[in-house]
Amino acid sequence: MKPAVKVTITGAAGNIGYALAFRVASGDMFGPDQPVILRLLEIPQALSSLKGVGMELEDCAFPLLHDIVLTDEPSVAFAETNYAILIGAKPRGKGMERKDLITENAKIFSTQGKIINDHASRDVRVLVVGNPANTNALIASANAPDLHRKQFTAMTRLDHNRALGQLAIKTNSRVADIKQVTIWGNHSSTQFPHIDNCLVNGQPVYDLVERDWAIDEFVPRIQRRGAEVIEARGLSSAASAADAIVDHVHDWVLGTPDGDWVSMAIPSDGSYGIDKGLVYSFPVTCKNGEFEIVQGLELDELSVSRLRLSEKELLEERSIIQDLLPNA
Ligand code: NAD
Ligand code: LMR
Repeated sequence: MKPAVKVTITGAAGNIGYALAFRVASGDMFGPDQPVILRLLEIPQALSSLKGVGMELEDCAFPLLHDIVLTDEPSVAFAETNYAILIGAKPRGKGMERKDLITENAKIFSTQGKIINDHASRDVRVLVVGNPANTNALIASANAPDLHRKQFTAMTRLDHNRALGQLAIKTNSRVADIKQVTIWGNHSSTQFPHIDNCLVNGQPVYDLVERDWAIDEFVPRIQRRGAEVIEARGLSSAASAADAIVDHVHDWVLGTPDGDWVSMAIPSDGSYGIDKGLVYSFPVTCKNGEFEIVQGLELDELSVSRLRLSEKELLEERSIIQDLLPNA
Protein backbone atom coordinates (compact mmCIF):
# COMPACT_ATOMS: atom_id res chain seq x y z
CA MET A 1 0.00 0.00 0.00
CA LYS A 2 1.17 3.56 -0.79
CA PRO A 3 2.24 5.79 2.12
CA ALA A 4 -0.62 7.99 3.39
CA VAL A 5 -0.88 11.59 2.16
CA LYS A 6 -1.61 14.35 4.65
CA VAL A 7 -4.64 16.48 3.85
CA THR A 8 -5.39 19.63 5.85
CA ILE A 9 -8.94 20.97 5.79
CA THR A 10 -9.55 24.35 7.42
CA GLY A 11 -13.02 25.21 8.67
CA ALA A 12 -13.60 21.48 8.93
CA ALA A 13 -16.63 21.75 11.22
CA GLY A 14 -18.36 24.19 8.86
CA ASN A 15 -20.90 23.40 6.19
CA ILE A 16 -18.48 22.55 3.41
CA GLY A 17 -15.91 20.95 5.71
CA TYR A 18 -18.54 18.59 7.07
CA ALA A 19 -19.53 17.54 3.55
CA LEU A 20 -15.91 17.21 2.40
CA ALA A 21 -14.05 15.29 5.11
CA PHE A 22 -16.01 12.08 4.51
CA ARG A 23 -15.49 12.24 0.74
CA VAL A 24 -11.72 12.56 1.18
CA ALA A 25 -11.65 9.73 3.75
CA SER A 26 -13.67 7.42 1.51
CA GLY A 27 -11.16 7.67 -1.34
CA ASP A 28 -13.11 9.92 -3.72
CA MET A 29 -10.34 12.50 -3.95
CA PHE A 30 -7.22 10.37 -4.47
CA GLY A 31 -8.56 7.00 -5.53
CA PRO A 32 -9.14 3.65 -3.86
CA ASP A 33 -5.47 2.80 -3.30
CA GLN A 34 -4.35 6.02 -1.61
CA PRO A 35 -4.55 6.19 2.21
CA VAL A 36 -5.03 9.60 3.81
CA ILE A 37 -4.33 11.32 7.11
CA LEU A 38 -6.85 14.08 7.82
CA ARG A 39 -5.69 17.20 9.65
CA LEU A 40 -8.80 19.16 10.55
CA LEU A 41 -8.37 22.79 11.64
CA GLU A 42 -10.96 24.94 13.36
CA ILE A 43 -11.10 28.05 15.50
CA PRO A 44 -11.19 27.38 19.26
CA GLN A 45 -14.94 28.13 19.53
CA ALA A 46 -15.72 25.33 17.03
CA LEU A 47 -13.50 22.62 18.58
CA SER A 48 -16.40 20.85 20.26
CA SER A 49 -18.26 20.59 16.99
CA LEU A 50 -15.03 19.44 15.30
CA LYS A 51 -14.72 16.69 17.91
CA GLY A 52 -18.13 15.44 16.76
CA VAL A 53 -16.92 15.38 13.14
CA GLY A 54 -13.93 13.32 14.29
CA MET A 55 -16.21 10.88 16.11
CA GLU A 56 -18.35 10.41 13.01
CA LEU A 57 -15.27 9.84 10.86
CA GLU A 58 -14.15 7.10 13.28
CA ASP A 59 -17.62 5.60 13.15
CA CYS A 60 -17.45 5.27 9.37
CA ALA A 61 -14.44 2.90 9.72
CA PHE A 62 -13.00 4.07 6.39
CA PRO A 63 -10.22 1.63 5.41
CA LEU A 64 -8.19 4.42 3.75
CA LEU A 65 -8.29 6.78 6.74
CA HIS A 66 -5.05 6.15 8.62
CA ASP A 67 -5.22 8.98 11.16
CA ILE A 68 -7.28 12.02 12.16
CA VAL A 69 -5.82 15.10 13.83
CA LEU A 70 -8.24 17.68 15.28
CA THR A 71 -6.68 21.00 16.18
CA ASP A 72 -7.06 24.76 16.53
CA GLU A 73 -3.32 25.23 16.06
CA PRO A 74 -2.48 26.05 12.40
CA SER A 75 1.18 25.01 12.69
CA VAL A 76 0.01 21.53 13.75
CA ALA A 77 -2.62 21.36 11.01
CA PHE A 78 -0.18 22.34 8.25
CA ALA A 79 2.93 20.45 9.49
CA GLU A 80 4.42 18.57 6.51
CA THR A 81 1.02 18.57 4.84
CA ASN A 82 0.76 17.53 1.18
CA TYR A 83 -2.63 19.11 0.45
CA ALA A 84 -4.07 22.22 2.10
CA ILE A 85 -7.73 22.92 1.45
CA LEU A 86 -8.49 26.38 2.78
CA ILE A 87 -12.21 26.63 3.42
CA GLY A 88 -12.33 28.26 6.87
CA ALA A 89 -13.71 31.77 6.29
CA LYS A 90 -16.96 33.64 6.55
CA PRO A 91 -19.60 32.91 3.88
CA ARG A 92 -21.75 35.66 2.33
CA GLY A 93 -25.42 36.04 3.13
CA LYS A 94 -28.38 37.09 0.98
CA GLY A 95 -27.87 40.26 -1.04
CA MET A 96 -24.06 40.31 -0.67
CA GLU A 97 -21.38 39.93 -3.35
CA ARG A 98 -18.46 37.61 -2.52
CA LYS A 99 -16.02 40.52 -2.58
CA ASP A 100 -17.96 42.11 0.32
CA LEU A 101 -16.16 39.48 2.45
CA ILE A 102 -12.72 40.72 1.50
CA THR A 103 -11.81 42.78 4.56
CA GLU A 104 -13.06 40.15 7.02
CA ASN A 105 -11.53 37.12 5.35
CA ALA A 106 -8.29 38.37 3.76
CA LYS A 107 -6.18 38.29 6.93
CA ILE A 108 -6.92 34.59 7.48
CA PHE A 109 -5.13 33.86 4.21
CA SER A 110 -2.06 36.00 4.84
CA THR A 111 -1.57 34.24 8.19
CA GLN A 112 -2.17 30.79 6.74
CA GLY A 113 0.08 31.52 3.73
CA LYS A 114 2.98 32.23 6.12
CA ILE A 115 2.32 29.10 8.18
CA ILE A 116 2.09 26.93 5.07
CA ASN A 117 5.37 28.46 3.90
CA ASP A 118 7.08 27.54 7.17
CA HIS A 119 5.51 24.17 7.97
CA ALA A 120 4.00 22.40 4.95
CA SER A 121 5.69 19.78 2.78
CA ARG A 122 7.72 21.45 -0.01
CA ASP A 123 5.45 19.83 -2.59
CA VAL A 124 2.22 21.05 -0.93
CA ARG A 125 -0.70 21.80 -3.23
CA VAL A 126 -3.09 24.45 -1.95
CA LEU A 127 -6.70 24.99 -2.94
CA VAL A 128 -8.41 28.15 -1.65
CA VAL A 129 -12.19 27.94 -1.35
CA GLY A 130 -12.99 30.68 1.21
CA ASN A 131 -14.30 33.75 -0.59
CA PRO A 132 -13.31 35.88 -2.38
CA ALA A 133 -11.34 32.79 -3.37
CA ASN A 134 -9.12 34.10 -6.20
CA THR A 135 -7.82 37.06 -4.21
CA ASN A 136 -7.44 34.99 -1.04
CA ALA A 137 -5.27 32.54 -3.02
CA LEU A 138 -3.17 35.47 -4.25
CA ILE A 139 -2.72 36.62 -0.64
CA ALA A 140 -1.78 33.15 0.62
CA SER A 141 0.74 32.63 -2.14
CA ALA A 142 2.32 36.08 -1.75
CA ASN A 143 2.89 35.25 1.91
CA ALA A 144 4.63 31.97 1.06
CA PRO A 145 7.80 33.15 -0.70
CA ASP A 146 9.58 29.77 -0.41
CA LEU A 147 6.91 27.99 -2.39
CA HIS A 148 6.13 28.27 -6.11
CA ARG A 149 3.12 30.36 -7.11
CA LYS A 150 1.80 27.39 -9.07
CA GLN A 151 1.31 25.51 -5.78
CA PHE A 152 -1.60 27.88 -4.99
CA THR A 153 -4.95 27.65 -6.75
CA ALA A 154 -8.52 28.81 -6.16
CA MET A 155 -11.77 27.09 -6.94
CA THR A 156 -13.91 27.76 -10.00
CA ARG A 157 -14.69 24.07 -10.47
CA LEU A 158 -18.10 24.55 -8.89
CA ASP A 159 -18.93 27.09 -11.61
CA HIS A 160 -17.56 24.68 -14.23
CA ASN A 161 -19.73 21.85 -12.89
CA ARG A 162 -22.75 24.17 -12.74
CA ALA A 163 -22.19 24.97 -16.42
CA LEU A 164 -22.03 21.26 -17.32
CA GLY A 165 -25.20 20.59 -15.33
CA GLN A 166 -27.19 23.37 -16.99
CA LEU A 167 -25.97 22.42 -20.48
CA ALA A 168 -26.92 18.78 -19.92
CA ILE A 169 -30.45 19.85 -18.99
CA LYS A 170 -30.78 22.26 -21.91
CA THR A 171 -29.45 19.84 -24.55
CA ASN A 172 -31.10 16.77 -23.04
CA SER A 173 -27.73 15.02 -22.91
CA ARG A 174 -25.50 13.45 -20.26
CA VAL A 175 -22.90 15.48 -18.41
CA ALA A 176 -20.24 12.95 -19.49
CA ASP A 177 -20.97 13.76 -23.15
CA ILE A 178 -20.24 17.50 -22.74
CA LYS A 179 -16.66 18.64 -23.32
CA GLN A 180 -14.58 21.83 -23.47
CA VAL A 181 -16.50 24.24 -21.30
CA THR A 182 -14.53 27.08 -19.70
CA ILE A 183 -15.02 29.40 -16.76
CA TRP A 184 -12.79 32.44 -17.27
CA GLY A 185 -11.87 34.95 -14.56
CA ASN A 186 -13.00 35.52 -11.03
CA HIS A 187 -15.23 33.27 -8.88
CA SER A 188 -17.75 36.10 -8.80
CA SER A 189 -20.58 37.49 -10.84
CA THR A 190 -18.07 38.81 -13.42
CA GLN A 191 -16.87 35.29 -14.29
CA PHE A 192 -17.34 34.36 -17.94
CA PRO A 193 -18.78 30.88 -18.55
CA HIS A 194 -17.81 30.29 -22.18
CA ILE A 195 -19.08 27.54 -24.49
CA ASP A 196 -17.95 28.59 -27.98
CA ASN A 197 -15.63 25.53 -28.07
CA CYS A 198 -18.05 23.18 -26.37
CA LEU A 199 -18.91 19.81 -27.93
CA VAL A 200 -21.94 17.74 -27.01
CA ASN A 201 -21.53 14.14 -28.11
CA GLY A 202 -18.84 15.43 -30.47
CA GLN A 203 -21.22 17.94 -32.05
CA PRO A 204 -20.71 21.75 -31.77
CA VAL A 205 -22.96 23.00 -28.98
CA TYR A 206 -24.40 25.73 -31.22
CA ASP A 207 -26.02 22.99 -33.36
CA LEU A 208 -28.19 22.38 -30.29
CA VAL A 209 -28.57 25.76 -28.56
CA GLU A 210 -28.75 29.35 -29.81
CA ARG A 211 -25.80 31.61 -29.05
CA ASP A 212 -28.33 34.21 -27.83
CA TRP A 213 -29.52 31.70 -25.22
CA ALA A 214 -25.91 31.20 -24.11
CA ILE A 215 -25.24 34.91 -23.69
CA ASP A 216 -28.61 36.07 -22.39
CA GLU A 217 -29.66 33.15 -20.17
CA PHE A 218 -26.89 30.61 -19.58
CA VAL A 219 -24.07 33.04 -18.68
CA PRO A 220 -26.05 35.05 -16.09
CA ARG A 221 -27.54 31.86 -14.66
CA ILE A 222 -24.09 30.41 -13.89
CA GLN A 223 -22.78 33.78 -12.70
CA ARG A 224 -25.64 34.04 -10.20
CA ARG A 225 -26.03 30.39 -9.25
CA GLY A 226 -24.29 30.81 -5.88
CA ALA A 227 -26.70 33.60 -4.96
CA GLU A 228 -29.64 31.53 -6.23
CA VAL A 229 -28.65 28.69 -3.88
CA ILE A 230 -28.28 31.12 -0.96
CA GLU A 231 -31.72 32.52 -1.72
CA ALA A 232 -33.24 29.02 -1.70
CA ARG A 233 -31.31 27.40 1.16
CA GLY A 234 -30.63 30.42 3.33
CA LEU A 235 -27.04 29.11 3.37
CA SER A 236 -24.37 28.98 0.70
CA SER A 237 -23.77 25.83 -1.31
CA ALA A 238 -22.00 23.13 0.66
CA ALA A 239 -22.38 19.62 -0.77
CA SER A 240 -21.84 20.85 -4.34
CA ALA A 241 -18.85 22.91 -3.17
CA ALA A 242 -17.37 19.84 -1.45
CA ASP A 243 -17.94 17.83 -4.62
CA ALA A 244 -16.16 20.48 -6.69
CA ILE A 245 -13.21 20.42 -4.24
CA VAL A 246 -12.95 16.65 -4.73
CA ASP A 247 -12.99 17.13 -8.52
CA HIS A 248 -10.45 19.99 -8.49
CA VAL A 249 -7.85 18.14 -6.43
CA HIS A 250 -8.56 14.77 -8.06
CA ASP A 251 -7.93 16.13 -11.55
CA TRP A 252 -4.93 18.23 -10.52
CA VAL A 253 -3.25 15.14 -9.05
CA LEU A 254 -4.54 12.32 -11.24
CA GLY A 255 -4.98 14.20 -14.54
CA THR A 256 -7.72 15.38 -16.89
CA PRO A 257 -9.18 13.06 -19.55
CA ASP A 258 -7.86 13.27 -23.11
CA GLY A 259 -9.86 15.64 -25.31
CA ASP A 260 -11.24 17.69 -22.46
CA TRP A 261 -10.20 20.34 -19.97
CA VAL A 262 -11.33 21.76 -16.63
CA SER A 263 -11.45 25.26 -15.14
CA MET A 264 -9.03 26.18 -12.36
CA ALA A 265 -8.15 29.58 -10.94
CA ILE A 266 -4.35 29.68 -11.13
CA PRO A 267 -1.62 32.35 -11.20
CA SER A 268 -1.75 33.98 -14.63
CA ASP A 269 1.42 33.62 -16.71
CA GLY A 270 0.16 36.34 -19.06
CA SER A 271 -1.76 33.92 -21.30
CA TYR A 272 -4.67 35.54 -23.15
CA GLY A 273 -3.27 38.92 -22.05
CA ILE A 274 -4.32 38.49 -18.41
CA ASP A 275 -2.21 40.45 -15.92
CA LYS A 276 0.67 38.20 -14.81
CA GLY A 277 0.32 36.90 -11.26
CA LEU A 278 -3.41 37.48 -10.83
CA VAL A 279 -5.20 34.29 -9.74
CA TYR A 280 -7.54 33.92 -12.70
CA SER A 281 -9.64 31.00 -13.93
CA PHE A 282 -8.41 29.45 -17.19
CA PRO A 283 -9.13 26.27 -19.12
CA VAL A 284 -6.42 23.81 -18.05
CA THR A 285 -5.30 20.27 -18.67
CA CYS A 286 -3.49 18.36 -15.91
CA LYS A 287 -0.87 15.65 -16.18
CA ASN A 288 1.61 14.21 -13.66
CA GLY A 289 0.37 16.59 -10.98
CA GLU A 290 0.93 19.74 -13.06
CA PHE A 291 -1.58 21.98 -14.79
CA GLU A 292 -1.13 23.75 -18.11
CA ILE A 293 -3.29 26.47 -19.65
CA VAL A 294 -5.03 25.45 -22.87
CA GLN A 295 -3.55 27.77 -25.49
CA GLY A 296 -4.80 29.09 -28.80
CA LEU A 297 -8.53 29.29 -28.16
CA GLU A 298 -10.18 31.85 -30.42
CA LEU A 299 -12.12 34.52 -28.57
CA ASP A 300 -14.43 36.99 -30.28
CA GLU A 301 -14.72 40.64 -29.28
CA LEU A 302 -17.54 40.04 -26.80
CA SER A 303 -15.64 37.23 -25.08
CA VAL A 304 -12.46 39.30 -24.82
CA SER A 305 -14.43 42.15 -23.24
CA ARG A 306 -15.87 39.69 -20.67
CA LEU A 307 -12.40 38.35 -19.84
CA ARG A 308 -11.17 41.91 -19.36
CA LEU A 309 -14.10 42.83 -17.11
CA SER A 310 -13.32 40.00 -14.70
CA GLU A 311 -9.60 40.85 -14.81
CA LYS A 312 -10.50 44.45 -13.92
CA GLU A 313 -12.47 43.26 -10.88
CA LEU A 314 -9.52 41.14 -9.73
CA LEU A 315 -7.17 44.11 -10.13
CA GLU A 316 -9.55 46.16 -7.97
CA GLU A 317 -9.69 43.43 -5.33
CA ARG A 318 -5.87 43.25 -5.40
CA SER A 319 -5.58 46.98 -4.79
CA ILE A 320 -7.83 46.69 -1.71
CA ILE A 321 -5.56 44.07 -0.08
CA GLN A 322 -2.25 45.42 -1.40
CA ASP A 323 -0.86 45.76 2.14
CA LEU A 324 -1.20 41.98 2.61
CA LEU A 325 1.07 41.25 -0.39
CA PRO A 326 4.59 41.61 1.03
CA ASN A 327 6.35 39.95 -1.88
CA ALA A 328 4.15 41.10 -4.76
P1 NAD B 1 -19.32 27.95 7.41
O1 NAD B 1 -19.50 29.22 8.15
O2 NAD B 1 -20.36 26.89 7.48
O3 NAD B 1 -17.96 27.26 7.85
C1 NAD B 1 -16.77 27.98 7.94
C2 NAD B 1 -15.96 27.34 9.05
O4 NAD B 1 -14.68 27.95 9.05
C3 NAD B 1 -16.57 27.58 10.45
O5 NAD B 1 -16.72 26.34 11.10
C4 NAD B 1 -15.55 28.48 11.14
O6 NAD B 1 -15.45 28.21 12.53
C5 NAD B 1 -14.27 28.11 10.40
N1 NAD B 1 -13.22 29.14 10.42
C6 NAD B 1 -13.36 30.47 10.36
N2 NAD B 1 -12.16 31.07 10.42
C7 NAD B 1 -11.24 30.07 10.49
C8 NAD B 1 -9.82 30.05 10.57
N3 NAD B 1 -9.10 31.17 10.61
N4 NAD B 1 -9.21 28.85 10.63
C9 NAD B 1 -9.92 27.70 10.61
N5 NAD B 1 -11.27 27.65 10.55
C10 NAD B 1 -11.92 28.83 10.48
O7 NAD B 1 -19.03 28.35 5.89
P2 NAD B 1 -19.03 27.38 4.59
O8 NAD B 1 -20.40 27.35 4.03
O9 NAD B 1 -18.34 26.12 4.89
O10 NAD B 1 -18.16 28.29 3.59
C11 NAD B 1 -16.80 28.54 3.84
C12 NAD B 1 -16.24 29.50 2.81
O11 NAD B 1 -16.27 28.90 1.51
C13 NAD B 1 -17.01 30.81 2.68
O12 NAD B 1 -16.10 31.90 2.52
C14 NAD B 1 -17.83 30.60 1.41
O13 NAD B 1 -18.20 31.82 0.82
C15 NAD B 1 -16.82 29.84 0.57
N6 NAD B 1 -17.35 29.09 -0.58
C16 NAD B 1 -16.62 29.09 -1.72
C17 NAD B 1 -17.04 28.36 -2.82
C18 NAD B 1 -16.24 28.34 -4.11
O14 NAD B 1 -16.75 27.82 -5.10
N7 NAD B 1 -15.03 28.90 -4.18
C19 NAD B 1 -18.22 27.61 -2.74
C20 NAD B 1 -18.95 27.63 -1.56
C21 NAD B 1 -18.50 28.38 -0.48
C1 LMR C 1 -20.88 29.54 -4.41
O1 LMR C 1 -20.53 29.80 -5.56
O2 LMR C 1 -21.87 28.83 -4.16
C2 LMR C 1 -20.06 30.06 -3.25
O3 LMR C 1 -19.06 30.92 -3.67
C3 LMR C 1 -20.91 30.66 -2.18
C4 LMR C 1 -21.44 31.99 -2.59
O4 LMR C 1 -21.25 32.95 -1.84
O5 LMR C 1 -22.06 32.08 -3.65
